[in-house]
Amino acid sequence: MAAIRTAVIPAAGLGTRFLPASKAVPKEMVTLVDRPAIQWVVEEAVAAGCTRVVMVVGRGKEAIADHFDRAPELEASLTASGKQGLLDVVRRLAELAEVVLVRQGEPRGLGHAVGVARPVVGDEPFAVLLPDDVFHPSTLLTEMVASTEASGRSTVAVMRIAGPEISTKGVAAVDGRRVLDVVEKPAFEDAPSDLALLGRYVFTPAIFDALDRIGHGALGELQLTDAIRLVAQEEGVDAQAFEGGYFDTGNHLDWLCSNVELALGHPTIGGPLAVRLADLVRRLGLAR
Ligand code: UTP
Repeated sequence: MAAIRTAVIPAAGLGTRFLPASKAVPKEMVTLVDRPAIQWVVEEAVAAGCTRVVMVVGRGKEAIADHFDRAPELEASLTASGKQGLLDVVRRLAELAEVVLVRQGEPRGLGHAVGVARPVVGDEPFAVLLPDDVFHPSTLLTEMVASTEASGRSTVAVMRIAGPEISTKGVAAVDGRRVLDVVEKPAFEDAPSDLALLGRYVFTPAIFDALDRIGHGALGELQLTDAIRLVAQEEGVDAQAFEGGYFDTGNHLDWLCSNVELALGHPTIGGPLAVRLADLVRRLGLAR
């Protein structure tokens, strides 16, 4: 099996759950602690060994391309004012990975978004990272890449989710590590397990052929989950369990909580934030 060097980041969705913040600013560019959400996932892909990042974008997402490009005026200004540290931060963004942008003309579902990356990805295994999904610690993708490189099979991330919230996710029936079946957004009573598929995947190229063969699924969209079911039946798919902090930052509450958890681990912000939070809890009388 070839080493996994390409990561696909679907970022062409409309972000309706995150309105009004996402009206003029792509939700992928909304700040998590000190950098845009999408920078966290690009850094995660690079840490897992990816050297090429394919971003699937649509209209109004130009800021994403600018963030990972050179910025000559800004760099000249930082150089002139001797701000070497900030200059390094800005330059490093353009050197993180080879960034390729592809357009999804209209948001026709996550499966469709992955499919439009096919001409760039080619006939190789690749990772998919949904920029909404934040994992802490973020070593999950590295483990998944190692799993697929060793087994030659696709690997999907799963996590136990208790209660009716499971019906907002793709849900997997699993035997040991092997995925037997997956269903997109089942009714709570019909869910095959409490194991939700989350936004990290490592696929063999078989996913593209599967995407060509599925019809429009739940919500009338081309569902990635339906293609995963075909690959699970025909080639085999493994599940990688995750048990740490997981946030769907496409909704306001999770976005706020992910900011707090990630900031508490930040080298300079973490300590002072913990003191401020403890003070806030005391002042508002929230302590139990
Ligand atoms: P979501 O459904 O969470 O994102 O898709 P969304 O559609 O932007 O958000 P809401 O539901 O309207 O609030 C998961 C990921 O897949 C991408 C999204 O950008 C997000 O990163 N996506 C989704 C696409 O790139 N294209 C699509 O057609 C759908």
